[in-house]
Amino acid sequence: MTNDFPAGLALRSPRVDDHARVLAVLDQWWGGLGGETGSRERALLLPRLYFQHFTGTSRLAERPSGDLAAFLIGFFSQDQPEVAYIHFAGVDPALHGRGIATALYRRFFALARGEGRHRVLAITSPSNSASRAFHTRIGFTELPGAPEAPPSVQPDYDGPGLDRVVFSIDLPADG
Ligand SMILES: CC(C)(COP(=O)(O)OP(=O)(O)OC[C@H]1O[C@@H](n2cnc3c(N)ncnc32)[C@H](O)[C@@H]1OP(=O)(O)O)[C@@H](O)C(=O)NCCC(=O)NCCS
Repeated sequence: MTNDFPAGLALRSPRVDDHARVLAVLDQWWGGLGGETGSRERALLLPRLYFQHFTGTSRLAERPSGDLAAFLIGFFSQDQPEVAYIHFAGVDPALHGRGIATALYRRFFALARGEGRHRVLAITSPSNSASRAFHTRIGFTELPGAPEAPPSVQPDYDGPGLDRVVFSIDLPADG
């Protein structure tokens, strides 16, 4: 546990018994983005395996009451030794704008650098303007999209109709 996290939150690695409670907040935390389809896609993005096999590089933040405040699911690429990947992250809307996501990302960056990872990748849905603004604000670049698509949009990236925007950031050597 750490006690220097924003808003007095405690940070720890997730456990398998956190799976259901993280799934339970997704719709509210994402503001119902994408309706029923969005809800189904989000749930499928977080199968139990992330809470079994990726916990060492992931973090969950809790209030003193134990209520979930934020999470980041990330891992180091198996195939690209310089790359780390942030798969999914969210913050309780009641706690937005307090630097919590920034702190979770920065801790992941530090962990990644410590393991020799120099680039972090992430993706989001083109319609997730909050995610796009946040990633841009903390220094990610949106990779070029397809010429026929809106800026940065990669059509069918995750399958038919599943367009995505891909973010990349090169980690500075000193921080
Ligand atoms: C995107 C999200 C993670 C940001 O969390 P947060 O803790 O509020 O973000 P921070 O407080 O660390 O914000 C960092 C910067 O990003 C900016 N930012 C964050 N959300 C933003 C938004 N919706 N619109 C514009 N800028 C935003 C902040 O203004 C801040 O900039 P500043 O340093 O100039 O003040 C949060 O809104 C969220 O959980 N959204 C729903 C889930 C989601 O879309 N996750 C994204 C990736 S899977």
